[in-house]
Amino acid sequence: MYELCPETPEDTPEVEALLDLCFAPGRTALSSYRLRDGVPAVSALCLVLRDASGVLLGSIRYWPVRVGGRPVLLLGPVAVHPTTQGEGLGGLLMQESLSRAGALGWARVMLVGDLPYYRRFGFWKLDGVEMPPPTNPDRVLGLELVEGAWQGVTGAVTRETGGDVAAGLAEMRRDPPKSQTCVEIESEPAHPAHKG
Ligand SMILES: CC(C)(COP(=O)(O)OP(=O)(O)OC[C@H]1O[C@@H](n2cnc3c(N)ncnc32)[C@H](O)[C@@H]1OP(=O)(O)O)[C@@H](O)C(=O)NCCC(=O)NCCS
Repeated sequence: MYELCPETPEDTPEVEALLDLCFAPGRTALSSYRLRDGVPAVSALCLVLRDASGVLLGSIRYWPVRVGGRPVLLLGPVAVHPTTQGEGLGGLLMQESLSRAGALGWARVMLVGDLPYYRRFGFWKLDGVEMPPPTNPDRVLGLELVEGAWQGVTGAVTRETGGDVAAGLAEMRRDPPKSQTCVEIESEPAHPAHKG
C-alpha cells in the first residue's frame, strides 16, 4: 500500500535528501533552479509518495514560470528512490500530479528532461522556448493540458514575478486537509483510489 499526499514542510528535509540521492551533486546549480529561487512552489501539485510504513519513495514538485508572458507550469524535479525505480511509481507521480494540474486550471506544462521517458506522458520537444543557459534545447519538453495551449507560446523562460500570482500561490501553501487530498494506492500504482 502506498499513500500519495501533498508535500508539507515536515516532508521537505526528507524530500531534499531523496533528491540528493537521486541526482548528481550540484543539482541546485542547474538553470531550472534559478527559475525557482524565491518563487513559491505550486504546493497543491508537490506530492510525496510513501509506503505503508511511511518510508518516502518518491517526490514530484512544480513551480510557476512564464514563457512569452504566458503562465506555464515547470515540472520537476521528480524522483523515485533507487530501490523502487522501475515499478511504475514515477508514472504514478506524473499522472496524478498532471491530472491535478488540469483540474486546477493549468493549461501548459514544461520540463527539462529525457524525451524517451517523458513522451509516454504526452510531452514533446518545444521549439522556440529558451531555458536559461546552459540547457540542451533537445531536453526542453512541453505538454498541453488544454488543446492548443502551447500554440504561439515561445520565447525565454522567465521567473514568475507577478505579485497576484505569487500571492495566490502563497495562499495555496496553506495545505488543504490531508484527508481531502491524499490518494491511497492498494497495490497497483496504475489505478489509484481516491480517499477524499
Ligand atoms: C526518472 C524516474 C523519476 C522514473 O521513475 P520510475 O518509478 O523508475 O519510473 P517508472 O517505473 O514509472 O517507469 C520506468 C520506465 O521508465 C524508463 N526510464 C526511466 N528513466 C528514464 C530515462 N531517463 N530515459 C528513458 N527512459 C527512462 C525505464 O527504463 C522504464 O522503462 P520500461 O517501462 O520500458 O521498462 C526515476 O528513475 C528517477 O528518480 N531517476 C533519477 C532522477 C531523475 O533522473 N529524475 C528525472 C529528471 S527531473
